[in-house]
Amino acid sequence: MALNDKGCSDFHISPKLAAAKKASEIVEDGMVIGIGSGTTVELFIKELSKRISHEELELFGVPTSYQSMLLAIEAGIHLLDLLECSELDICIDGADEVDLKLNAIKGGGGALTREKIVAYASREVVFVVEERKVTKILKYPVPIEVLPFSTGYVLKTLSKVMRDYGSSSKPRLRHGTGKLGPVITDNGNFIVDCDFGDIENPKKLEKELSLIPGVVECGIFAGVADRIIVGGEGGNTYELSR
Ligand code: A5P
Repeated sequence: MALNDKGCSDFHISPKLAAAKKASEIVEDGMVIGIGSGTTVELFIKELSKRISHEELELFGVPTSYQSMLLAIEAGIHLLDLLECSELDICIDGADEVDLKLNAIKGGGGALTREKIVAYASREVVFVVEERKVTKILKYPVPIEVLPFSTGYVLKTLSKVMRDYGSSSKPRLRHGTGKLGPVITDNGNFIVDCDFGDIENPKKLEKELSLIPGVVECGIFAGVADRIIVGGEGGNTYELSR
């Protein structure tokens, strides 16, 4: 009997596993996949790995982090990078929060820059989330990847942008566990988290943040997803689409 990530049987499948399983079913033999990062993607890759061995699928992938690279190798997915392959068939990724218009906030795992590049390089973008991450208005603190050299200037500028948007919080340089000091991304940069409160116009804020010199990328993905697979309690899934 298959066990889910919480060690329960498939009769009590978790929302995250249900969504990841569904995502693994839309992948077709020969596809080139943009592989996101995070715990949902980890489950997706493990489900895909079962299909690779049972159905002898040949799949290719561009991973967005060392986490997904290692998992993809273990699953038997052939690795590619964007130098070899500038257009991908499909991008499958998790998200920290999504709204009903398919906008998303990503970067809880610090992989947002490569995730955004891979999403834009893909013909179809699918985000995979648990139902608790679906909201009417995005409000998850926005992760922003920052060039270390620019940190002082970027923090000052972000504080001003946050004030302009009515937020009373301050930008927070992300610190991790397992190593002293700030989190260093797979690209050698810092991550700053900014709590804007309710984000009424994600597209506008995404553009504004991306224009700050020193900001490598921001975690707002406005209008990028084509569909979102949502996993509900009890293991049911449904889709949000354009
Ligand atoms: C990684 O940087 C993120 O964008 C993840 O896709 C996002 O944080 C979702 O992660 P989980 O699937 O672990 O919740």
